[in-house]
Amino acid sequence: MSIQYYSDSKIFKLDSQNTSYVLQVESHGYLLHLYYGALIPDAELGYLSYTCYHQHHMPRVEMEGPVYFSKDVNRMEYSCNGCGDFRGSALSIVGSIGTADTDIQYVSHKIYEGKPKIEGQPATYAEENEAQTLEILCKDHVSGAEVTLFYTVFSNYGAMTRHVAVRNTSDSAMNIQRVFSTCLDFHDARDMDVIHLYGNWGREQRFERTSLLHGTQSVGSKRGGSSHMHNPFIAICSHDATEEFGDVYGINLVYTGNFMASAEMDCDGGARVLMGINPDGFSWCLEAGEVFYTPEAVMVYSNEGLGGMSRIFHRLYRNNLCRGPWKNKKRPILINNWEATYFDFNEEKLYDIAKTASELGIEMLVMDDGWFGSRNSSESALGDWFVNEEKLKGGLGKLTEHVNALGMKFGIWFEPEMVSRDSELFRTHPEWALQTPGRHMSIARHQYVLDMSRQDVRDYLFDCIKKVLDNANIAYVKWDFNRSLTEVGSALLENKRQQEVFHRYVLGLYDLLEKLLNAYPDLLLEGCASGGGRFDPAWLYYAPQIWTSDDTDAIERLDIQYGTSMCYPSSAMGSHVSACPNHQIGRNTSLQTRGDVAMAGTFGYELDITKLSDEEKEIVRKQCADYHKYYDVIHYGDLYRLISPWKDRTRCAWSYVSEDKSEAFVTYVVIRCDIHERYYLRLAGLDPNRRYLNETTGQILSGSTWMNAGICIQERLQDFTSRTFHFVAVD
Ligand code: DGJ
Repeated sequence: MSIQYYSDSKIFKLDSQNTSYVLQVESHGYLLHLYYGALIPDAELGYLSYTCYHQHHMPRVEMEGPVYFSKDVNRMEYSCNGCGDFRGSALSIVGSIGTADTDIQYVSHKIYEGKPKIEGQPATYAEENEAQTLEILCKDHVSGAEVTLFYTVFSNYGAMTRHVAVRNTSDSAMNIQRVFSTCLDFHDARDMDVIHLYGNWGREQRFERTSLLHGTQSVGSKRGGSSHMHNPFIAICSHDATEEFGDVYGINLVYTGNFMASAEMDCDGGARVLMGINPDGFSWCLEAGEVFYTPEAVMVYSNEGLGGMSRIFHRLYRNNLCRGPWKNKKRPILINNWEATYFDFNEEKLYDIAKTASELGIEMLVMDDGWFGSRNSSESALGDWFVNEEKLKGGLGKLTEHVNALGMKFGIWFEPEMVSRDSELFRTHPEWALQTPGRHMSIARHQYVLDMSRQDVRDYLFDCIKKVLDNANIAYVKWDFNRSLTEVGSALLENKRQQEVFHRYVLGLYDLLEKLLNAYPDLLLEGCASGGGRFDPAWLYYAPQIWTSDDTDAIERLDIQYGTSMCYPSSAMGSHVSACPNHQIGRNTSLQTRGDVAMAGTFGYELDITKLSDEEKEIVRKQCADYHKYYDVIHYGDLYRLISPWKDRTRCAWSYVSEDKSEAFVTYVVIRCDIHERYYLRLAGLDPNRRYLNETTGQILSGSTWMNAGICIQERLQDFTSRTFHFVAVD
């Protein structure tokens, strides 16, 4: 790994173990993007920039001469608005003159070991020997904006990160209209596809791949959270890229608020990808001397297809984004009472669930929504975070003691950012909810959203959570968020700053999460937003696991978890065995299939376990034992997606291979059976030269045979049945 600057050609070359990224300061001081892709030895790539000879209509930098430089056709490193580059702009600033044209030129740079923090924001982190950073300082001489582009290259992965800082060096305020975290230009994208993950409540993270077309394709969120509808992820890949072969560029934003990801193919066949805070609903008043930092964009390149890209994201997030003691500690198997009881529970019911669960090997009881204030439905009490002792006789202390006495940990649900219209909190502090004076406050799930940009709101929430955590032995918190933001106004901010509230909300949320984790460093936090409505890397910085979807049906989960696995590791995906028929869609699946699918994430149960038959309890006991047996390979191994559930919608299969390739765990699910009695499942990621025992059949064959000839599944498996296979190297 190295970052080199070649002063003769003014070229920067950023190499990781297997990638190179090259940019150049051209003669007028503009930054040109030259290359991003597989590791290459040469730095002299200036020949790739584009010189105009005859298109005189194009805005140019020089006055005269037959050959000239135009920002309109070149690959710009960080595109600016209004000065001759007519594609999507990464940066647009209104300075004291009042125009929005922005133009930055190189001033200086620094290269150093390690990676800087982004103040107040989540980001990947690195030890000094793990990464190198390049900072390029640029300046807009008219507005006085100093713009620093940050690039960090990780040594062990084909991953780099980018973010941007804007400093106002003028003597009056300026307005940032858009400031993207990254801008990536491609010279030739005529044969490329764009991939993103779309969805909705209960059907998150659907994989969609289309050809990159002329014009702009974009996804984003204006909901205040990263959203169920689009994940802050976009990938550009060669048309022929498959799961294991071909060029793939993935970009993921470490941000849990409004974002925009766009891919624009220009009329010359080049392309520009932008990722960052959604400019819609955003502007930031930057006073003289102040600095604004964007969130971080993580960029991964792999020439080993989508699988190669995902494995890089997974390792990076497991090792350099998740933090705290739970990063590498085995997560407890939990049982959550939500689908078992909904709001209708008391301490006896919870204890009964815990008791049966503990006998079967489940390690933590999570008490979900309904334990506080007068909360007996979704209609009231969010914000009133005091224990309802009519429901939980003897209080939380007694319940947790009883649960702990069973040898189980105890976890609890909160939805801190919300307030019910019918709540003590809203009656006392209506001004704490986001609102625009004179405008009707839209309501969703009978609740409003608290103004997280306010310190007093955050202090109140911290104190409430603290009182609960200090009064009982609580190991885990599920942090929920069940509606989008509307009428996003803050009572404390001046009018000129109201467009900042979306982003200030997110910064306020980060501040509260950080304070909570500082006060309770051993707490295991699970993110949740009506399922996977905020499944993003920002959450992983605080919570190593996130509830993936409210749809717990095992077959639906194949699609959801497959999509989620594009960027996020198994250790991040909350995944539970629930009741049959499934509560969301009514499908019947076997307990085995539900267990096999849930095992691909942070495993747990979400059903009334007291109602299971003895035979079913035995299956649960075995699943809990298997969870421990296969934990390391599933949570620290490399994921190989073997059959996509979308391919022909008849099967799905995936495997995990340990880093040293001594072990693999394979899951195979039949979605719709057919007349064929046998199926050959070809594995991936094994060492071709080692021999592996298939523990299920006792067969020993070389990795090469398992990968090329495959496992032969001869059973006539019915719809929704699954099988798992454990392979161990024998030499
Ligand atoms: C939405 C979550 O996704 C569910 O798991 C559950 O916690 C409910 N909220 C409770 O209101």
